[in-house]
Amino acid sequence: MTNKFLDAMHFRHACKLFDDSKKISDEQILYILEAGRESPSAFGMEPWKFLVITDNDLKNKLRPACKNQIQVSSCSHLVVVLAAIESVKLTSNDIKQRFLKKGIPPNKLDFYLGLYAQHLKHILNKDENIFHWTSNQTFIAVANMMTAAAYIGIDSCPLEGFDKEDVEEILKIDPKEFQVSLVLPFGYRVNPQPKQLRKPLREIVEFM
Ligand SMILES: Cc1cc2nc3c(=O)[nH]c(=O)nc-3n(C[C@H](O)[C@H](O)[C@H](O)COP(=O)(O)O)c2cc1C
Repeated sequence: MTNKFLDAMHFRHACKLFDDSKKISDEQILYILEAGRESPSAFGMEPWKFLVITDNDLKNKLRPACKNQIQVSSCSHLVVVLAAIESVKLTSNDIKQRFLKKGIPPNKLDFYLGLYAQHLKHILNKDENIFHWTSNQTFIAVANMMTAAAYIGIDSCPLEGFDKEDVEEILKIDPKEFQVSLVLPFGYRVNPQPKQLRKPLREIVEFM
């Protein structure tokens, strides 16, 4: 049985070195970003933004802020995934627009905003909690983008090894509005991928 989805899952690995002479086309990067865009999010808030960096000088500037990891400068496209913390706050206009788009009648808006505020009262009380909540959601988009890339033969490597404040400063990001969640390079591998190490299902699954 052929299974293109599982083939893509097996093709994807944390690529440690990209071939800097091979570039991803515009069409391919848009395909990958589309998988991020279509990802699910809590309350459908889409609390993310994707910075796509192709400029070599900027990649080289970011590399020391990312533990000097060579994926950052050798990749074709460096996607910096931001958690859009401002957009989910009660003061944000995005929430109202989102609820109205979902078809909530304007006269019920305050009621639904109240439910949202009540449900998230332990999250919306400080930026640190909002960052954790929104950053978790960006990881769903990240996973989908990596699998979409693998599906079309493109490699990636999720990077958590970076100095958040340094990356935000280099990219001139206002941390009240956005915060860096993950750095995600895409490109083409130099070396063959190592054997995939995973625990067997019986160790990680329990049917009840
Ligand atoms: C959230 C997250 C952060 C990661 N950060 C790094 C990183 O900073 N540098 C790196 O080389 N790999 C990083 N990885 C890759 C993992 O080490 C890798 O996915 C894991 O060892 C499994 O290997 P595989 O993806 O090749 O199957 C990260 C993976 C995840 C999911």
